Amino acid sequence: MSEGIPPSPTTASGAAGASGAPQMPPRVVIPSPASSAAAGQGPQEASMLPFERASAPESPPAPSAPSAPPVQEPVVELGPTGRPMPFLPDPPPVSEHGAARVVSMCNQKGGVGKTTTTINLGASLAEFGRKVLLVDFDPQGSLSVGLGLNPHEMDLTIYNLLLEPDVSLEDVVVPSGVPGMDLLPSNIDLSAAEVQLVNEVAREQTLQRVLAPALSSYDVILIDCQPSLGLLTVNALTASDGVIVPLECEYFALRGVALLKTTIDKVRERLNPRLEIEGVLGTMFDGRTLHGREVMERLVQAWGDTVFHTVIRRTVKFSDSTVAGEPITTYASSSTGADSYRQLAKEVLSRWHDA
Ligand SMILES: Nc1ncnc2c1ncn2[C@@H]1O[C@H](COP(=O)(O)OP(=O)(O)O)[C@@H](O)[C@H]1O
Ligand SMILES: [Mg+2]
Repeated sequence: MSEGIPPSPTTASGAAGASGAPQMPPRVVIPSPASSAAAGQGPQEASMLPFERASAPESPPAPSAPSAPPVQEPVVELGPTGRPMPFLPDPPPVSEHGAARVVSMCNQKGGVGKTTTTINLGASLAEFGRKVLLVDFDPQGSLSVGLGLNPHEMDLTIYNLLLEPDVSLEDVVVPSGVPGMDLLPSNIDLSAAEVQLVNEVAREQTLQRVLAPALSSYDVILIDCQPSLGLLTVNALTASDGVIVPLECEYFALRGVALLKTTIDKVRERLNPRLEIEGVLGTMFDGRTLHGREVMERLVQAWGDTVFHTVIRRTVKFSDSTVAGEPITTYASSSTGADSYRQLAKEVLSRWHDA
């Protein structure tokens, strides 16, 4: 997977000269506030983004052309990230489960969509026939609550699994309410684990060790990390094959991302050479505002093709579904939010398939 800078537009060398367009920077175009203020809100908004095809200046009427009708160029549809949207096939069904891929949702900032993404990506993967285990690895327990569990009525949680040798995975796993998706719940007890684990042998590998028996019965294990880069998060990264980084499409979204990347690199070097950044997910996107589009543009400049083509738009349906204690894919099954997470599931599966 490329983590480099985004490719320059394919038209940059071949066409820019011919177009003779004044003031056209060769690479990425950042619209100035003055020029963009006039840009329309609505469906034309994508035209401001960097990968716009410079088709207009390039196609002068061909006077000498014979009588053949003008050839219509196929329209390349730009996705919300400003790049051409790839075709994402429906994932093929699986006949047997196992050899789970373990993925952490990680960002030390709170409120960026980690828990929402864990629930809804998980539920979408389960809709596509994958067997999914969600791991609530945040003492806040939002993932468990978001799936309708009462934090005070939990018998056993991931805390017991981590610290009590006689507790096994099957003792702690509960159904999530979504067919094909199970949950390892957590509550505030987990906050004590961070301190207690410090004295354990191989403390960074504790989660990996307790999850090992689940690998053969699930296709995907998604770990919802807490908003910090402490020992619990290091445990999640050590247990994972990949990391998905949800980033709220707000001005300060990129702050702190360098530190997150350093942590991921350190875990890869010292503890888990398998670990890769699966993708960066833009959440709470509002494509109607210039601000939203500019943040998205900066995300793509900084992370290139690591940024998922799928973005999650801002909608109150997500908080409504949390209150209802179920994923948006069942709470508002035909909403755009539900469709976006189904699309993310397809994109994630196609990345794994290509890997
Ligand atoms: N795309 C979205 N649009 C609007 N609200 C969202 C969206 N994604 C998440 N939220 C809401 O934002 C809040 C924080 O999201 P959450 O997933 O809990 O973030 P994190 O786990 O990173 O702290 C929650 O109230 C959630 O319902
Ligand atoms: Mg959370």
